[in-house]
Amino acid sequence: MPDHSHLHEDCLKHETGQNFWDRFVTPVAINCVCGAKPFARQRQRIVADAEGIVLELGLGTGLNLPFYNADKVQKVVGIDPGVSLLKKAGKKIQAAPFEVEVLCESAEDMPLESNMFDSVMVTYTFCSIPDAQAALAEVRRVLKPSGRLFFCEHGLSDNPSTAKWQNRLNSPWHFIAGGCNINRDVTSMVKAAGFGLESHENFTLEKTPAVLGYHHFGTARPR
Ligand SMILES: C[S@@+](CC[C@H](N)C(=O)[O-])C[C@H]1O[C@@H](n2cnc3c(N)ncnc32)[C@H](O)[C@@H]1O
Repeated sequence: MPDHSHLHEDCLKHETGQNFWDRFVTPVAINCVCGAKPFARQRQRIVADAEGIVLELGLGTGLNLPFYNADKVQKVVGIDPGVSLLKKAGKKIQAAPFEVEVLCESAEDMPLESNMFDSVMVTYTFCSIPDAQAALAEVRRVLKPSGRLFFCEHGLSDNPSTAKWQNRLNSPWHFIAGGCNINRDVTSMVKAAGFGLESHENFTLEKTPAVLGYHHFGTARPR
């Protein structure tokens, strides 16, 4: 296989500016928690339907890469400011049977042309993007009018008691979990960004506390 899958060298330069926690602890913790089986099952369900030229927000350690259908995907562009996470994705990037390009940038302001992508994949990332609504506006811009947004995210529960606890616990959780939020109403945010839902499910992941495991899962198209 030609070596067409790559991390831009500029990405690796950013790594020296990171603290010990971001460089060594966060990649292992995220890979471990997000790689757990219940999450992997949801990845498998959502990622397999992506097609064409795909943008993945928050590529992280590349946990979704093995689940793309190589017969349907032409190329994956992954964007993530977390350079140590991206470095950990190296082997999965090399093993992918399609081209993978990685940009070490933030989703709120993407250096990408408009109307470029057939699919945008977002798994467990809207919780961590500081301005997720701005990122969604960017997704709307770079997605072709005929394209599809795929999202699989934990977020605000429709159970008032769970939602109350999510709001109470969000600040301490945000502090200890590297900027993750547990109280974002992802489905409403997707709709507010100019998307119409195509398919949509809410459920709580097995073996996971409801405050963390309540899911917003679906696909949406530009309105
Ligand atoms: C919990 S991890 C999930 C990683 C991956 N999407 C997955 O499903 O395993 C959250 C990811 O969001 C990324 N992230 C945080 N802020 C971001 C931003 N502004 N733009 C894009 N990605 C961001 C983090 O670097 C991290 O890789």
